[in-house]
Amino acid sequence: MNITIENKKLNSWIKEVEDLCQPDSIYVCNGSSEEYSRLIDELTKSGIATPLKKRSNSFLFRSDPSDVARVEDNTYISTSTREEAGPTNNWIEPDKLKKIMLELYKGCMKGRTMYVIPFSMGPIGSPISKIGVEISDSPYVVINMHIMTRVSERVLELLGTDGDFIPCLHSIGAPLAEGEKDSMWPCAPLEKKYISHFPEENLIWSYGSGYGGNALLGKKCLALRIASAMARREGWMAEHMLILRLTNPEGKKYHIAAAFPSACGKTNLAMMQPSLPGWKCECVGDDIAWMKVGPDGRLYAINPENGFFGVAPGTSYDTNPMAMDTLKENVLFTNCALTDDGDVWWEGIDGDTPSHLIDWKGNDWTPDSKTDAAHPNSRFTAPASQCPVICEDWEKPEGVPIDIFIFGGRRSTVVPLVNEAFNWDHGVFLGATAGSETTAANIGAVGNLRRDPFAMTPFCGYNMGDYFQHWLNMGETLGDKAPKVFYVNWFRKSNDGKFIWPGFSDNSRVLKWMCDRVDGTVSSRETPIGLLPNEGDLDISGIDLSEDDMKELLKIDADAWKAEIPDIENHFSKFGNRLPERLHKQLQEFIKRLG
Ligand code: GTP
Ligand code: SPV
Ligand code: MN
Repeated sequence: MNITIENKKLNSWIKEVEDLCQPDSIYVCNGSSEEYSRLIDELTKSGIATPLKKRSNSFLFRSDPSDVARVEDNTYISTSTREEAGPTNNWIEPDKLKKIMLELYKGCMKGRTMYVIPFSMGPIGSPISKIGVEISDSPYVVINMHIMTRVSERVLELLGTDGDFIPCLHSIGAPLAEGEKDSMWPCAPLEKKYISHFPEENLIWSYGSGYGGNALLGKKCLALRIASAMARREGWMAEHMLILRLTNPEGKKYHIAAAFPSACGKTNLAMMQPSLPGWKCECVGDDIAWMKVGPDGRLYAINPENGFFGVAPGTSYDTNPMAMDTLKENVLFTNCALTDDGDVWWEGIDGDTPSHLIDWKGNDWTPDSKTDAAHPNSRFTAPASQCPVICEDWEKPEGVPIDIFIFGGRRSTVVPLVNEAFNWDHGVFLGATAGSETTAANIGAVGNLRRDPFAMTPFCGYNMGDYFQHWLNMGETLGDKAPKVFYVNWFRKSNDGKFIWPGFSDNSRVLKWMCDRVDGTVSSRETPIGLLPNEGDLDISGIDLSEDDMKELLKIDADAWKAEIPDIENHFSKFGNRLPERLHKQLQEFIKRLG
């Protein structure tokens, strides 16, 4: 081991993992740029990282074609009873799951270096931050963690001899026999992948995958699944939400937190540049919000992450210029295509489609190819500090006060562009019944409608029925200082399969209406699903949208909504007696309003 560690729990855990996983060597990370460069050099020399001529200090990686997204079917919340994990989580009893995984971990790091990665979610030393230590046998994970979290020796100093941390054990599950040649992206087959959480002991064990949320354990595993369980116990919130600051032409600031499922628009909204003159948007976070009630009784949000692990396809100067400007240097790209002049490329990026590319699998690609050049879940890993519109308060330990909550998802039909909840309980009902068409962010079918309450289905570390109750309880604590709740759908399609709403920068027009609602300066009309803008109240000046399209976007088809009821009833019935009575009541009232 390269340094001496003072922390007792960490020392004994490292020893335990060493004995179990049998690595060739152990290296404790310090988070320095030298360390980053050295690992990158090694990865480049072995051909795993491809340096990009067109972007300084940036590299392309190609994963194994089987290891391209989170694996929800292999993700477990292992609580002492199945009931605690609830109906939305996979569950195996802790003793049994540990037995299975200990067998897999046995000797799994043979031929490899075991990296010890001390990291902080949230600014190092801030009272709201959490310390984790990830042990991983993947150098790719180390460099990604460098960007996505705060990896530093200071974390170890802060731990001292007796400080506590969240242990996050990760192995790609691909030991090397003596003299065996390594593959470019070693990992275990799907049936051996386990992404396991033991929320009762704040412990994470991940095996078999090197990709994204399966492997960068500070993100979904710690900051959402483990943190959501802690948050319920301690009376705060850990949510799958972007955080943004919107400033109106008069200089008034509004803070918005929005929960959309994976690949449904958080990064894009977080960095959106309003098309409305005089409005300004700044990014506080693009994926995760930790929120606590402040001394003034309002809800304050921080972004526990340090970087963006963003969806590449669809990102362009046209759709998300601030993301494009974030990606100029110091970026890791995974599963994007490679151009002949040494740049990355993906479907939806600016400019003409090149006549030749190397696709995400490493094969020649031309516009005649039948497959995507970049994988639909190809991603960029970039430091948040590089975003030109990162909010000056993004690392403020006390966070920013939230005025507005938004829920939403991908619905090609039925759900209008925007509606407002009647009150907090109704807002919780909107969150609890949110539905979305599935995306490539998970291994599995794409485009299937599923209920994804609060965009937390894959990320809630306890019984989702109790999570609903926690939201109701938070509303009681916040009282009249609770954020106003809205629901949006940017993804409504016309009969010819095109998105009706222009989206992206024009989403500012919808946010403006919300701000006006908060200020009480604009009216609304009551419908069975909530409050909608009156005709003309959404500022759509200067956009190419017909009156009919606008009508379609704000239309409420009672029959179509009635047809949703059985699915919502079925969804609610899964929670049995853990479904809060107040949500049951919301559903009955909704049915009544539909007539
Ligand atoms: P995760 O990182 O998986 O949590 O995803 P996310 O919620 O941050 O989604 P992201 O902003 O990366 O968007 C995913 C895809 O949706 C991208 O291809 C975007 O181009 C597209 N998208 C985002 N916002 C809009 C929008 O307003 N309209 C349309 N039509 N597409 C959008
Ligand atoms: C998501 O799927 O919501 C992501 C990407 O943000 S991952 O880190 O893989 O979870
Ligand atoms: Mn996400």
